[in-house]
Amino acid sequence: MQKLYIILLVLVVASCSSESNKEDEKSMSEKSIISTELDTKVATLLSKMTLEEKVGQMTQITLDVVTKGDNQYSSSQPYALDSALVHKAIHTYKVGSILNTPGVPLSRQDWYKTIKTFQDEAAKTPRQIPIIYGIDAIHGVNYTIGATLFPQQIGLAATFNKDLVKEAAKISAYETRASSIPWNFSPVLGLGRNPLWPRLWETFGEDVYLGKTMGVAMVEGYQGTLGDPNTVASCMKHYLGYSVPLSGKDRTPAWIPERELRQYFLPAFKEAVDAGSVTLMINSGEINGVPVHASKFLLTDVLRGELGFDGIAVTDWADINYLHTRHKVAETIKDAIKMSVNAGIDMSMVPHDFEFAELLVELVKEGSVSEERINSAVSRILKVKMQLGLFENPVTDPKKYPDFGSDKFAAVSKKAAVESFTLLKNKDNILPLEKSAKILVTGPTANTMRSLNGGWSYNWQGSEADNYAKDKNTIAEAFTNLGNATFIQGVSFEGESNIDAAVKAAKQSDVIVLCLGENSYTETPGNINSILMPKDQINLAKALSKTGKKIILVLLEGRPIIFNEIEPLVDAVFMGYLPGNHGADALVDLLFGMENPSGRLPINYPKHPHAFVNYNHKHSDNISVPNYYESDYDQQYEFGDGLSYTSFEYTNLSISSAEMDQKGSIEVSVDITNTGSRKGKETVLLFISDLYASITPEVRALKGYDKIALNKGESKKVSFTITKDELSFVNENLETVAEPGDFEIRIGDLKKKIKLK
Ligand code: BGC
Repeated sequence: MQKLYIILLVLVVASCSSESNKEDEKSMSEKSIISTELDTKVATLLSKMTLEEKVGQMTQITLDVVTKGDNQYSSSQPYALDSALVHKAIHTYKVGSILNTPGVPLSRQDWYKTIKTFQDEAAKTPRQIPIIYGIDAIHGVNYTIGATLFPQQIGLAATFNKDLVKEAAKISAYETRASSIPWNFSPVLGLGRNPLWPRLWETFGEDVYLGKTMGVAMVEGYQGTLGDPNTVASCMKHYLGYSVPLSGKDRTPAWIPERELRQYFLPAFKEAVDAGSVTLMINSGEINGVPVHASKFLLTDVLRGELGFDGIAVTDWADINYLHTRHKVAETIKDAIKMSVNAGIDMSMVPHDFEFAELLVELVKEGSVSEERINSAVSRILKVKMQLGLFENPVTDPKKYPDFGSDKFAAVSKKAAVESFTLLKNKDNILPLEKSAKILVTGPTANTMRSLNGGWSYNWQGSEADNYAKDKNTIAEAFTNLGNATFIQGVSFEGESNIDAAVKAAKQSDVIVLCLGENSYTETPGNINSILMPKDQINLAKALSKTGKKIILVLLEGRPIIFNEIEPLVDAVFMGYLPGNHGADALVDLLFGMENPSGRLPINYPKHPHAFVNYNHKHSDNISVPNYYESDYDQQYEFGDGLSYTSFEYTNLSISSAEMDQKGSIEVSVDITNTGSRKGKETVLLFISDLYASITPEVRALKGYDKIALNKGESKKVSFTITKDELSFVNENLETVAEPGDFEIRIGDLKKKIKLK
């Protein structure tokens, strides 16, 4: 009977899977018909184009080039298009793409008018090819007034909730189209493995598995079905290896062995290419002495040849010129253009003039760049424009997007913020707080929307957030609105100090919510010479701790600022990252226990300024001799850390087999029970350690995660499948291999060994 049941089950499963195979095949063949049709359309259009038109398609300028006045990055002049300059760009130079904001956020109606002006002009050109407008809508469409702003990527990673990340991306895409823009320069797929780097918060953290799965969720959320006017083209960036400059400063040299490039940095791009991301932006920096914009190896051999990427590769800001002016690998701008186009770029974010277009025409005429190379670049650009439906609908009308900035979208942003806040310390279960507690809110990040949103918010540096998000709560506002809290800033980012007043107010309170961290910054302006928490913030914490009142430390920051000097003085620590416009409301719900924390650290939080080590370090990173050498692996908090107000028990770790071969797989499952007194969400992390390998193995590496919700007393089983992919690494010959031998799998504190034959 049992056997018969199993046979029946196998037959059902087999027929289902052959059904689904058929479905897959069908949709594959439909896809290829569509893409052949598209390719034919592209080829027909291309065959009619002049060289100047083609080169124009490869040219991207910044909005500032066609606006009145000299207002780059400033809000001092009112924004207005200059029709003569628009004409020059679109008719004389035939540019195919425009990007950026005028320095201030625009209303949707202004975006519509702007982009409609461009498309109306483009429609008057001989080929009528629409412009593709691109923007950095990296945590919502952050340059549109009234948009829903989400936690930044580092916070989204801390949710460990792919579905939520996909939903946030879907909303961002909708609101970006509601702003008439079809192309989003997001997500960042570099790994945040250097805590100093000012763009760490733009990443999904330090882990390759977390990064690639979150990246795919975001690409899927943005793109949905391309052509649907609620979706945008995603732009994976910055290919490749941008995120780990040795000095920690933005756009400074990185040194990454090819083995590591392949093992750690390439997978997120590979997965995003497979998930269908249609565009990619290139790393502005150099790796091993070669600027990536000049690397034929990375831009053609690996990107096209190995990853099979067939979308648009756009340069980053002025990066072709920098090959000459900054990197000094090209003696002239013209040489730089030749180098980069021949290396494989399709579009140049020039962005300030038309020299690229002029010189590229000359280069083709001289025979230094082949027309074939130009044709492949332009075909890709035309194809994406067609995929997006821009030929039929060059501009989307804000009136058709009634949900823009709606409460239901705000609720998703708040949910993401709730799930991102990461509770790292909760001494004597001081949290959650009683509703009646008298609270002092203090610190430089307490009363500003800048520290909640970070950079790329309303303007490039996020410095206008307090003006444009007035209707949203700062932490101080969220608490004082409840009636039981006082706010005294204590110290400000500008160096003002009012520590005595804060101490006085603390004495009259039951508990202190101390908000420390960073002001907003983006890219190079965020470079730092020290990652230590500024002295005045330390002094404020020390003075407050002398009152004997309990301190809850809330960190709002784009990178892990080191605070080991005051960590012992505080009772609870909440890492908030940059939780977005609804972060303060989320924090209130968490502190009072209306919500239960469930975020986990997507990075190691360093304890010492000269001892940065990632969590998946090597065994020799930890040569510990207690109380003697400072050679141990000593973090303030570790990747994956995060507490809850309830407790979870892990039992019954079981494996379907203790052995597998290269083609096999092992099912791993574990039971998780909520043994505490309230409902909560738990992130179940699967770590694998290769015990011995030809390349020194990592101590452990994340190979799976799942986030589950459990009521008090409830249990759930969580399962993972291990194949050779989860056991592999890149060997000395640069091949991805899974070497036979023993592996340890770990979920919670439970461990099992498996063998690969
Ligand atoms: C950044 C990119 C961004 C581009 C356009 C550059 O400076 O590195 O991430 O997409 O500007 O704004």
